Amino acid sequence: MKVAIFATKGYDRKSFEESNVAFGHDLTFFEPKLTPNTAPLAAGFEAVCVFVNDRVNRDTIMKLAAGGTKIIATRSAGYNQIDLESAEEMGLAVVRVPAYSPNAVSEFTVGLILTLGRQIHRAYNRVRDNNFELDGLQGIELHKKTIGVFGTGRIGVSVLRNLSGFGARLLAYDIYRNPEAEALATYIDDPVEMARQCDIITLHLPLTPNTHHIINEDTIKHLKDGVFIVNTSRGALLDTLAVIEGLKSGKIGYLAIDVYEIEGDLFFQDLSNEIVTDDVFARLLTFPNVLVTGHQAFLTQQALQNIAETTLDNLKQFEETGQCDNAVLLDQIRG
Ligand code: NAI
Repeated sequence: MKVAIFATKGYDRKSFEESNVAFGHDLTFFEPKLTPNTAPLAAGFEAVCVFVNDRVNRDTIMKLAAGGTKIIATRSAGYNQIDLESAEEMGLAVVRVPAYSPNAVSEFTVGLILTLGRQIHRAYNRVRDNNFELDGLQGIELHKKTIGVFGTGRIGVSVLRNLSGFGARLLAYDIYRNPEAEALATYIDDPVEMARQCDIITLHLPLTPNTHHIINEDTIKHLKDGVFIVNTSRGALLDTLAVIEGLKSGKIGYLAIDVYEIEGDLFFQDLSNEIVTDDVFARLLTFPNVLVTGHQAFLTQQALQNIAETTLDNLKQFEETGQCDNAVLLDQIRG
């Protein structure tokens, strides 16, 4: 199959080229993101492969359809960047990689909690400057804390598994109960009540209209003073302006995020010689109790290999049968 791979980085090219030896697709790598402006590059390609910050909106999909594209393969678990209604209307299939490595994101999540909770990132910088002063580096222990995992799908349950050795009290919230999570944590059916009890909240929900700004001005009022919030899912689960107010008032004691609401123009590129004009993001970086990473929780060797193999297999299945086990189907999402 002729595949146009957008938003390609060196590590994508390497993993796709290595995995493609077993599949034999005709791959073309493009560095720009897929947007309405770059969509014409895909003319003549049956398949496009996209990533989380590509703009796969109605305009882009119309241009893809006009150029003969039949399938959009996102090399991610989340698919909130794709206008599924427009894709269905214009006859384009959408496929994804549902579980390339839940452990990659889960281990990174625990890493963020430990790093920020114990100030390891600040200690690293101090020691490199021969500053061995400990003042300001006092941390928190997870032992006996109450940690709430919102979303107990593949990643959330892996987070519960990985956190289960710390002697913390683990709570869980989801619209469905996961038997493995039930064995590790206590489910609380009311999200506000669960949030009210937590010292640490970690979000593992997909971004949907129901979860958009799930942490907002109103919910923040119900949280414990000094609560620790972790988001490695999608930026818009948090109302960033409300979170900044929470940080300023001290209501939020720690914030660790790998994703940001308007990350599309920032992440996955070197802006070290540029002026960043996003004042909200710049404000976040000023807090000593905020740790931001640039959407790297997925980035492990195993995950990259799984992403490439599953994406190429998705395309093979579609080429051979017109269907795919990993199709994103609107009927299923609507329930
Ligand atoms: P999953 O689909 O296995 O689990 C999501 C869980 O959320 C499900 O159990 C579902 O029932 C629950 N859920 C959905 N809507 C809900 C609602 N309104 N209220 C309560 N629960 C709800 O997804 P998985 O693999 O665990 O991934 C979670 C998210 O992590 C992805 O959607 C993606 O946004 C993010 N992610 C981030 C990565 C990164 O590099 N930072 C990498 C991979 C995924």
